[in-house]
Amino acid sequence: MSKVAIVYWSGTGNTEAMADAVAEGVTGKGGEAEIIQCSDFSAGKLGDYDAIAFGCPAMGSEELEDTEFQPMWDDVKGELGDKPVALFGSYEWADGEWMENWKADADEAGVNVVDTLICYDAPDDEGVANCRALGEKLA
Ligand SMILES: Cc1cc2nc3c(=O)[nH]c(=O)nc-3n(C[C@H](O)[C@H](O)[C@H](O)COP(=O)(O)O)c2cc1C
Repeated sequence: MSKVAIVYWSGTGNTEAMADAVAEGVTGKGGEAEIIQCSDFSAGKLGDYDAIAFGCPAMGSEELEDTEFQPMWDDVKGELGDKPVALFGSYEWADGEWMENWKADADEAGVNVVDTLICYDAPDDEGVANCRALGEKLA
């Protein structure tokens, strides 16, 4: 059974709703899901999980949230080895450029990104289904 960490930051709950649906996908496939606020996660905890989904909305100017999520991401990205990783998050103002920037950063750090998923605003039914499918993939 896979143990999957879902590590996220969310200001207004949209990415949090995505995290909940990712967790449903993991448990629906028989995996164990743990939803963790990014401020409670660090590289020292990576060994506890088989796969990790990281969630952060578009913040700043097509950037990650910079006070809690970015420092955590900078701490862990070089330590992920070949662990399967998914990146997800919500956006509203543009068209998802922050995720392209994030994926490029992950690729540069050698992260094994198996999937990325973006949702406009709060996830609608299709968005929730896509989040669940992402969780199923990691389980
Ligand atoms: C300070 C701030 C910066 C933002 N920057 C962007 C951005 O660069 N691109 C974008 O598409 N949306 C941007 N947004 C919109 C958020 O990504 C969007 O509202 C998202 O749904 C918030 O997710 P959350 O509910 O998980 O916090 C920004 C919102 C805030 C408050």
